[in-house]
Amino acid sequence: MSQTRHFLTDLDLSPEELDRVLNLATWMKQRPYAVKALAGPQTAAVIFDKTSTRTRFSFSAGIAALGGHPEVINPGDSQLGHKESIADTAGVLERMVSLIIWRTYAQSGLEEMAVRSRVPVINALTDDYHPCQLLADLLTIRERLGTLAGKSLAYLGDAANNMANSYLLAGVNAGMDVRIAGPEGYLPQERIIRTAEDRAAVTGGKVTITTDPDTALGGADAVATDTWISMGQEEQKDQRMQVFGDYQVSAKALAKAADAALVLHCLPAYRGAEITADVIDGPQSVVWDEAENRLHAQKALMAWLLVESGLTDDETVRLVREGERG
Ligand code: CP
Ligand code: NVA
Repeated sequence: MSQTRHFLTDLDLSPEELDRVLNLATWMKQRPYAVKALAGPQTAAVIFDKTSTRTRFSFSAGIAALGGHPEVINPGDSQLGHKESIADTAGVLERMVSLIIWRTYAQSGLEEMAVRSRVPVINALTDDYHPCQLLADLLTIRERLGTLAGKSLAYLGDAANNMANSYLLAGVNAGMDVRIAGPEGYLPQERIIRTAEDRAAVTGGKVTITTDPDTALGGADAVATDTWISMGQEEQKDQRMQVFGDYQVSAKALAKAADAALVLHCLPAYRGAEITADVIDGPQSVVWDEAENRLHAQKALMAWLLVESGLTDDETVRLVREGERG
């Protein structure tokens, strides 16, 4: 009997597994309807405690393309969180659905769901991580630069948020030189830095945490940023708009990176705040490929987790094994 595989943080895939999932994403992107891992149609629960555009549509479209049915729950629409515990919800869902995809606040809640669930649980963003976004970002960088290992990635802005943590962990998992820059008080927690350093020691990746944006940007192959005001932080808007000014991704900042460095943003973006319009709408921006790759990366992830968990038919196993070889 296989053990259920979940995807709760960026490091829930080993470096070798990450490579296999990205290979599979590339392969499935060329064959969008070949893998029917959710044939039946089986239902996947897609639950949102925070709002979403990309995550909602990419999972809905991806689940449909895998032959399944997405049951999307908007914030406040189920008993979960106010009338019923996470464990009891998991106990019900695992009897009815083949995947649980959840966007929530606390990482600990997601972990609780996974402990109780016999079907794979996928992190669709928590306060701490956004690992599905990083699968899409890594796929996009790999498509453009050919490889990930040894390439440098600079992230500027709110370096204490979910995207910064995921850039750090997923980047080093892929063997990248990850530079994270933000103001004092808005840098990744020590435990996350240590975890990233441990993984970098295995993969040959590199970790730089700095308050100096130029240190992060110098010659970087890719430059990323994210909103300065994450979901749940709206009341801190005025103060946050003051704090991150030196970390804006502008044409002047981008000029310090490598020539033709890629510009990434998970979106939604605030032009004139964390990134200027000329940069996000300019020739170095790959944000639309990045958004599209949410679909391809998550389809591969869902199929792969189901195969690894022993929850698919033989034909799906065969196709996934072929695709992951690249
Ligand atoms: N990037 C991202 O997760 O976008 P949504 O919040 O629209 O899902
Ligand atoms: N850091 C952002 C990412 C949105 C996709 C947030 O959590 O709101």
